[in-house]
Amino acid sequence: MHSSSPSHPSSTPLQSVLWNQDHLDLLDQRLLPEEIVYLPLKQAEEVWDAIRHLKVRGAPAIGIAAAFGVYLGIAEADTPDTKTMLRLIEEKAAYLATSRPTAVNLFWALDRMKERARVSADLVHSSAELKDIMLQEAISIQQEDEETCRLIGEHALSLFKEDMGLLTHCNAGGLATAKYGTALAPMYLAHEKGMNIKVFADETRPVLQGARLTAFELQQAGIDVTLICDNMAGMVMSKGWIDAVIVGTDRVAANGDVANKIGTYSVAVLAKEHGIPFYVACPLSTIDLDTPTGADIPIEERADEEITEGFGKRTAPKGIKVFNPAFDITPHDYVTAIITEKGIVEAPFEENLKKLFADMEQL
Ligand code: MRU
Repeated sequence: MHSSSPSHPSSTPLQSVLWNQDHLDLLDQRLLPEEIVYLPLKQAEEVWDAIRHLKVRGAPAIGIAAAFGVYLGIAEADTPDTKTMLRLIEEKAAYLATSRPTAVNLFWALDRMKERARVSADLVHSSAELKDIMLQEAISIQQEDEETCRLIGEHALSLFKEDMGLLTHCNAGGLATAKYGTALAPMYLAHEKGMNIKVFADETRPVLQGARLTAFELQQAGIDVTLICDNMAGMVMSKGWIDAVIVGTDRVAANGDVANKIGTYSVAVLAKEHGIPFYVACPLSTIDLDTPTGADIPIEERADEEITEGFGKRTAPKGIKVFNPAFDITPHDYVTAIITEKGIVEAPFEENLKKLFADMEQL
């Protein structure tokens, strides 16, 4: 474990997942903003635990960590033939898939690892070669995510104007991806180009990804960011301070319904009431055409203590009934556009999302 103080501002967001020769150095996001601690992970079980307990979080970062988790799960295996190695890879992927249910990037990354293994198993001569291919695939997933996020940022930036007020919820920034983020990517690019923007970050109860992570990484980058409690979003909108809302997502259903951090739906309703565009930024790996509508997306429920003891002290009576869904669904009617690395998709979402994937297959 190595750590440092977060007191030196830098315009490059911290990397949440770092491959370091034979292990993962994973930024423990639970400790931010107070401490920057990288945990050395050497086993698939440690990666599973890191995903489950939000040491790494954010849809693309979860997928990246899980891909490396598959490799760590097989790295030490003394398996003679490639068929047995392939079975082990499938087992490790199935195990890592049980870590969290909502972000489809987790399953996307694990499916991609399995597919690469299946295709390669017949072509290689030893299980050692297959292991190496798994490591290379995980590295590619991470590298491609950086490029993807930059492209999302460029498309989203085409919607930005000088002196714009933006509101975001949760953390869809560099910490949640390989670099730049999705919803935060255009903010980094705007800043790089010297454009003035003013960002409002919802603190994002119950575990405060907005306060601990979004406010932290934007402040570190020197971007104008103001922290508000979730219940202040309506007020700042009514003052005319917000020109657009931009958020990330954990899964977009085939009809354009969007699962994102709990509270996103309320922000979308408020945005519509105030005539403010509501943008969702995500890679294609977050769009799940196999899930027909938002009602079909599994919503994770987390421990009561996140609400009753979230501030390090008890803030509710013992024995109180608690409902703690980690995500909610924003129906597609509230979504102005979905911004991907391949461009900006508008309604009718069902038709246009299908077309986006069909066009890609033809390339
Ligand atoms: O529970 P979390 O912190 O993993 O939830 C994260 C979010 O809801 C993000 O907005 C989403 O994963 C998009 S990250 C680019």
